[in-house]
Amino acid sequence: MPFTVAIDGPAAAGKGTISRALAQRFGFSYLDTGLLYRATGRKMLDGAQPVEAARALVPEDLDAPGLRSAEVAEAASQVAAIAEVRDALVAFQRRFARLGEGAVLDGRDIGTVICPEAEVKLFVTAAPETRARRRHAELQDGTSFEDVLADVHRRDARDMGRSDAPLRPADDAVQIDTTDLDIDAAVARAAEILNDAL
Ligand code: C5P
Repeated sequence: MPFTVAIDGPAAAGKGTISRALAQRFGFSYLDTGLLYRATGRKMLDGAQPVEAARALVPEDLDAPGLRSAEVAEAASQVAAIAEVRDALVAFQRRFARLGEGAVLDGRDIGTVICPEAEVKLFVTAAPETRARRRHAELQDGTSFEDVLADVHRRDARDMGRSDAPLRPADDAVQIDTTDLDIDAAVARAAEILNDAL
């Protein structure tokens, strides 16, 4: 049976960085599940009906340019609140988790809904201001810090408040707060937890 690592948490807490580093270090595959919602949100912005777009998604859609923009992030969090969109994306994620020796999946509901049997579950958080500062430095597109912080708050509220698969830690998740941790320290902590479980 493949080994599954489920990493959940709010936007810009460090999930992606930690996930990529773990996947590389342990030779596991990695799926950024946010890309599924971003690709669906992108298609909605282009005029598609979101449920149909989610059902028709193909892996190449995850490589589309522009998926990292703030506009697409907002659209992603809107389509992510639609239960039929989430349902349409479950099978792809579970199939990915079963490929190969091991897989790291990051998102909002991996430990609670997609892979509740994952061997390792991490919940990565950081203070909203810290996350907005990181996202602001990444974007470099002229968006003000205040606007990025407002986006972070709005997305947090929508992700935690939706009725279907809200963002929350699984009961058996280990929490990592990266507010005062640099990347190396956060990755080291996650790798230690994974090593203990292997
Ligand atoms: O992680 P990322 O910021 O790319 O995710 C974009 C949006 O997709 C999130 O704000 C969230 O609404 C949604 N999402 C989700 N479930 C996941 C991954 C992402 O609802 N597993």
